[in-house]
Amino acid sequence: MEKTSQVSGYYKLKREERLAKVKEFAGLTDDEAKMLEAGLGFEQAEKMVENVVATFRLPLGIAVNFLINGKEYMVPMATEETSVVAAASNAAKMCRAFGGFKASSTDPIMIGQIQLLTKDAKKAKKAIEDNKKKILETANAKDPRLVSLGGGAKDLEVRIIKTGRGEMAITHLFVDVRDAMGANAVNTMCEAVTPLIEDATGDKTLLKIISNLADRRRAMAEVTVSSEELGGAAVVDAIVNAYEFAAADPYRAVTHNKGAMNGITAVIIATGNDSRAVEAGVHAYASITGRYKTITSWEKDGKGNLHGKIELPLAVGIVGGATMNPSAKINQKILGVKSAKELSEVMASVGLAQNLAALRALSTEGIQRGHMSLHAKNIAMMAGASGKDIDEIADVMVKEKNINVDRAKKLLDERKRSR
Ligand code: MEV
Repeated sequence: MEKTSQVSGYYKLKREERLAKVKEFAGLTDDEAKMLEAGLGFEQAEKMVENVVATFRLPLGIAVNFLINGKEYMVPMATEETSVVAAASNAAKMCRAFGGFKASSTDPIMIGQIQLLTKDAKKAKKAIEDNKKKILETANAKDPRLVSLGGGAKDLEVRIIKTGRGEMAITHLFVDVRDAMGANAVNTMCEAVTPLIEDATGDKTLLKIISNLADRRRAMAEVTVSSEELGGAAVVDAIVNAYEFAAADPYRAVTHNKGAMNGITAVIIATGNDSRAVEAGVHAYASITGRYKTITSWEKDGKGNLHGKIELPLAVGIVGGATMNPSAKINQKILGVKSAKELSEVMASVGLAQNLAALRALSTEGIQRGHMSLHAKNIAMMAGASGKDIDEIADVMVKEKNINVDRAKKLLDERKRSR
């Protein structure tokens, strides 16, 4: 049988049954499944950060139904937010009718910046450009392994910027980091080429560091969603109107983008990547024209279906740093991604699905109904309910639109008395 990420009623299964399905889908060993359940150990944690006293856990949910470039994906998502995993799964299901997501990405080029303090930025720029070959060779000598894999410093550019303390010449080193996020490789290269830049210009460098505005390392995805799947022509129009609001208003655009990042960041965390780096880059990219814009766009196509696109910088890796911790590795195995590029394409598709789900909910029934059912379960537990009582009390409160601890306690008492 063909492998599929479509599992009907996945959310209705018990946690152990869901794990068994993922284990089977991804071919996890018994040990890997146990490690995933156990999460990060103290020994590992102490190798990651300082002054460790404990580990802080997040729920890991699996979004199902993702079909991207013809390949099936179950997507591990680490998030504290209710409804994110369900919404991604539902949207991904609707997106299957026309073949799922088509995703692509640029080469994984990161930018390293070297700041030069100079009295004559134009002269410095020329001196650096004249030494380009030597600078790139010196950078690449620092990472022969990366070069052997097809990566390495590929080019440079010198930008003259006006600052509060006069002009500065900023060298951008363009490094193909292959399957890594790349910060270590890029920072090492930037430091290594500093003496050359200082010799060539006779000036002093100051900062040497990666830029998180990874606008040369972008992932793109698009999808067509049938109007029937969405609930009809009115829903398509409502979603396009919701998008146009965001396209025209930065106050809305930032929330729109936050919704897409709900999905992307959850996969970033699950795969051991740096969410701060990506979030910083995405929001800077959204405002690169001087006005903050959306990272997705939606329109009605000629047949009345909905067509959406996403494009964003995604500096994520599958080797190096925290991506090597056991849980992150197992999550990468569940995804079945073979390269950082593929991972970024999955993340872009998840972001587009997440955005679709949010816009559909907001422009039809509103976002609260979906949120309420888990919220009601939490309230039922706070009132002391356990086992089957949790779901049943939550259901009653959602139906009554009256979700609070007092009501939950009353319902629990009634149930206890009737037993
Ligand atoms: C909540 O985390 C995300 C939303 O606000 C996104 C959106 O408004 O598009 C629902």
